[in-house]
Amino acid sequence: MNRIAVRSLVGGLRGARNYNRYISTAVAARPLDGAEFLNRRSGDGFSGFYWMRMMSSAPQTVAPPVGTTSAEKEQKESGSSVGDGGKKGSDSNVVVSNYWGIQRPKIAREDGTEWPWNCFMPWETYRADLSIDLGKHHVPKTFLDRFALRTVKLLRIPTDIFFQRRYGCRAMMLETVAAVPGMVGGMLLHLRSLRKFQQSGGWIKALLEEAENERMHLMTMVELVKPVWYERLLVLIVQGVFFNAFFGLYMISPKLAHRIVGYLEEEAIHSYTEYLKDIDSGKIENVQAPAIAIDYWRLPKDAKLKDVITVIRADEAHHRDVNHFASDIHYEGKELREAPAPLGYH
Ligand SMILES: [Fe+2]
Ligand SMILES: [Fe+2]
Repeated sequence: MNRIAVRSLVGGLRGARNYNRYISTAVAARPLDGAEFLNRRSGDGFSGFYWMRMMSSAPQTVAPPVGTTSAEKEQKESGSSVGDGGKKGSDSNVVVSNYWGIQRPKIAREDGTEWPWNCFMPWETYRADLSIDLGKHHVPKTFLDRFALRTVKLLRIPTDIFFQRRYGCRAMMLETVAAVPGMVGGMLLHLRSLRKFQQSGGWIKALLEEAENERMHLMTMVELVKPVWYERLLVLIVQGVFFNAFFGLYMISPKLAHRIVGYLEEEAIHSYTEYLKDIDSGKIENVQAPAIAIDYWRLPKDAKLKDVITVIRADEAHHRDVNHFASDIHYEGKELREAPAPLGYH
């Protein structure tokens, strides 16, 4: 067990050393920061494809399957294999056995261009609801509410001290935490559904969707900010502590757990609002939006960082509402499955 933990720790930190290689395998040995990379790109007329290749995570190249037609084989050999980011060529020696007949069908964007991502599909993309009320606040009414709000305000103190106004870094680190509650809640409701032979009312899916959406926030932020080794170490420690603490809390009081998440989301809205202020004032450069964000939120091709932060903030407002709503259901002495789950937004 200890050996597994040590191996995981070393692997995680080793990942930090290799991080630049993952986000930009096609560039020279010296890593580029986001702004520098983008400046270079805008000046030399790279194609859209090259852009995707540069800014995205390591792709998965798939060998031609048994029974593939010669035309398809030709197309694959010419380098049109699909991976996350649509990378071609250099990884073509990575062979994945396709004996089992597993093959992704051809998927295209609305404009007919090839869909470059394996990590999410076009039908999982959406336009964020920017009309959502960002200023909503749940006024604490009970002791548990006040405890939840006080806990979140206390957690903010070390975060403010550690990150100060480095909002890119702060957002990236906080998204590693924000993606945990939905997964824990969804998992526990899933197990409960199995134990009790009961439907979940859609809440398993709703909470897992939230976790996935938060993870996509993280996948977007890591395209813009590169975590250093001690930040990766911090993520390992915080994840270990937070996952177990939230798991225990959800078992004891889902009412309190959802209320805490609701208040955490309110803080996230505040942080992203400050982030936007720094972009507006020029303290943070309003760089080109990462390709993954453009496809995930169906943003225009010329979208900027400000557009990305704006849609992420709208997502956080949606999570705030969902979690306060879930807590309210419990406050009424009901189970989540008795109220309709907010499915379909993401
Ligand atoms: Fe988030
Ligand atoms: Fe959130």
